Amino acid sequence: MPVITNIEDLRVLAEKRVPRMFYDYADSGSWTEGTYRDNEADFHRLKLRQRVAVNMENRSTATTMVGVPVKMPVSIAPVGLTGMQHADGEIHAARAAAKFGIPFTLSTMSICSIEDIAAATGQPFWFQLYMMRDRDAMARMIERARVARCNALVLTLDLQVIGQRHKDLKNGLTAPPRPTLRNILNLMTKPRWCLGMAGTKRRTFGNLVGHVKGVSDMSSLAAWTNEQFDPRLSWPDVEWVKKQWGGKLILKGIMEVEDARLAADHGADAIVVSNHGGRQLDGAPSSITALPAIVEAVGSRIEVWMDGGIRSGQDVLKAWALGARGTMIGRAMVYGLGAMGEAGVARALQILHKELDVTMAFCGHTDIQRVDSSILLPPHRPEVDRYFA
Ligand code: GLV
Repeated sequence: MPVITNIEDLRVLAEKRVPRMFYDYADSGSWTEGTYRDNEADFHRLKLRQRVAVNMENRSTATTMVGVPVKMPVSIAPVGLTGMQHADGEIHAARAAAKFGIPFTLSTMSICSIEDIAAATGQPFWFQLYMMRDRDAMARMIERARVARCNALVLTLDLQVIGQRHKDLKNGLTAPPRPTLRNILNLMTKPRWCLGMAGTKRRTFGNLVGHVKGVSDMSSLAAWTNEQFDPRLSWPDVEWVKKQWGGKLILKGIMEVEDARLAADHGADAIVVSNHGGRQLDGAPSSITALPAIVEAVGSRIEVWMDGGIRSGQDVLKAWALGARGTMIGRAMVYGLGAMGEAGVARALQILHKELDVTMAFCGHTDIQRVDSSILLPPHRPEVDRYFA
């Protein structure tokens, strides 16, 4: 067993253990994957200021996200098909998050159901919803989330249509996998995954099958999205969701200041600056570069969070420094899960926390609440640019 010291180690192990079509599903972006790559790369462009001779004892990374106490400003992002990265994947991830002290968000397109998560963790979690054509089905799903004691609803706004992901099309992504020769050969190299799947009944979309009319089997995610997701989604629909739900509402997929203002006007408690992990509009800027203007515009009215590209605790700190009061992690969780199940997600969270905590100390802070953009070096410094421009 390799020694795991960072998120990349978990990614490498996940790539070995998870069937190709599911690994690729998570670890890809749309079209050229430019935005997907920029999400990560743009974090590296931000440089930190090292401070010394500052008392670094008794540090805290604790805060709240929509009123929920969190051990660090991180929550688990909703990720479709998580239960295909590892048998009962959503249950494992939710347990790891609850034990660590951060929120878990269950995707509409999950394998384990809302009820599975409620039963497995006994703790409140968040539920993510897409705007679907069938409003009765949506209302029922919102009601199920309420019964399961979800304490926030995440409405994703950037998937009225689905971004083309070449790998999914080439891999013939289906859940469960279709027995083509290529799939069978690939599955034969993943005995651990197969064994896990043989031991669970949860192999299709738990929130939908048996709950949404006409869904008995999920062949193609893209085809289902095209049929069911509502391309007419507009702000009155957001208000409708807010009214149906009545609790904390988080709007995910905001990349522009105008939309951030509209989100605040239409009752969002928090927004997530997000390009869907580079999976939707390829060519959009990275989330971290879109963040500052949005914080400036609405940060005093609602909580602004971000996701996309977070692979270390340093990235969490940089996002915080630029005004994000919370983050969501998708792939870092998926890598941990694919690598080692619940223990892998727990390991990912420990890694992120340690990197966040130690980096904060190097920057001369002991309490994340006091960290602001002064920990970052300005991008252009004449005395440096003279030599390095
Ligand atoms: C769904 O949310 C996806 O990005 O595949």
